[in-house]
Amino acid sequence: MHKHHRALGLASAPIGSRTGADIAKQRPVQPVTLLRPHAARRAASFFVERFPGRSLYAVKANPSPDLLKILWDSGVTHYDVASIAEIRLVRETLPEAMLCFMHPVKAEEAIAEAYFEHGVKTFSLDTIEELEKIVRATASGEVAAADLNLLVRLRVSSEHAKLSLASKFGADPRDVSTLLMAARQAADALGICFHVGSQAMTPAAYAEAMERVRQAIIEAAVTVDIVDVGGGFPSSYPGMEPPPLETYFSVIHSAFEALPISYSAELWCEPGRALCAEYASVLVRVEKRRGDELYINDGAYGALFDAAHIGWRYPVRLLREPESHVRPAKFSFYGPTCDDLDRMAGPFELPADVNAGDYIEIGMLGAYGCAMRTQFNGFGVTESAIVDDEPMASLYGISAPAQSNVVTL
Ligand SMILES: Cc1ncc(COP(=O)(O)O)c(C=O)c1O
Repeated sequence: MHKHHRALGLASAPIGSRTGADIAKQRPVQPVTLLRPHAARRAASFFVERFPGRSLYAVKANPSPDLLKILWDSGVTHYDVASIAEIRLVRETLPEAMLCFMHPVKAEEAIAEAYFEHGVKTFSLDTIEELEKIVRATASGEVAAADLNLLVRLRVSSEHAKLSLASKFGADPRDVSTLLMAARQAADALGICFHVGSQAMTPAAYAEAMERVRQAIIEAAVTVDIVDVGGGFPSSYPGMEPPPLETYFSVIHSAFEALPISYSAELWCEPGRALCAEYASVLVRVEKRRGDELYINDGAYGALFDAAHIGWRYPVRLLREPESHVRPAKFSFYGPTCDDLDRMAGPFELPADVNAGDYIEIGMLGAYGCAMRTQFNGFGVTESAIVDDEPMASLYGISAPAQSNVVTL
């Protein structure tokens, strides 16, 4: 095992009943991504069955081909892709998937390749210049494409979200009417989209954004065929426990029903985080302890970008046998690189006797965790293993699993 860093079995290896603790017993040298296909399946079925419209998976949250196949098999047929590389990847992995190019600022070459080589018909935009670019890139000689679905992205507030997406994209309110009218001329189907920011902690975020959509439709007096409420659906992290997803769905449904649009208009959403956060956790080893600081073998340049850069806390548990029954204490983490910035302040609560050689599972890293990994400083090589225990938190109707390191005071 210590010589063969792939010895734990690939994500596609057959499984018996295996938990993170079983993997820790093998004492892996590299961090191990623990994959929970059943959790991704459960999240996908939830959206497919209960969201009152169509759910597109936002590939950026976790582009793993294994995950893409799981989502496809669970009924997710449409994918929000933001780059030509994501388009090529999804097209290769899922040849029949419907791809929607939802980055509002695209290279003209990328639009042309998407349209002519990969059959992409759906594009978002937030300026007239981008609309002109799409029209140019998809024309055949002098003939404009007649099969485009064009979604105008509105700028909406991110005040209810933990990660803002309010500054970079979205049409200026003063330009929205002109843009909608111009896009209507070029589109087969016209849509409006927005993003309320990631990890939106209340459904009110969507109600308020839908009010902006209503005003925009009335002011532009255009027929709208698609309303896309974007991503932002939350997951559950320590200190960020949102209300049930059903309440988001019902607020969105009521707001959609109240819009001045035709009966045939479609409602879309683009969840990233909510579909894959529970899919993966990471098993790390403590290489050194200095007081209340633990030096672990994954960090800011690995799966813990958000823990380092925006101070997010993730659930943690010590996987040691026999279990520690020592009372909990608060720790911060240092990652493996030689960089002071490679620090996760936490605090992360673990039994006070945690030490070098111990293994810790860090949960809820399936979204924007594994996807952010770099090879900086020679780290970033990981193994993966499928496990079938439950994720450390869930929004999908399972109670949090009993902690293996139950602490007594
Ligand atoms: C256009 C678009 N759609 C969907 C998403 C996914 O958002 P989330 O992971 O918050 O659901 C993003 C994330 O940045 C995005 O930019």
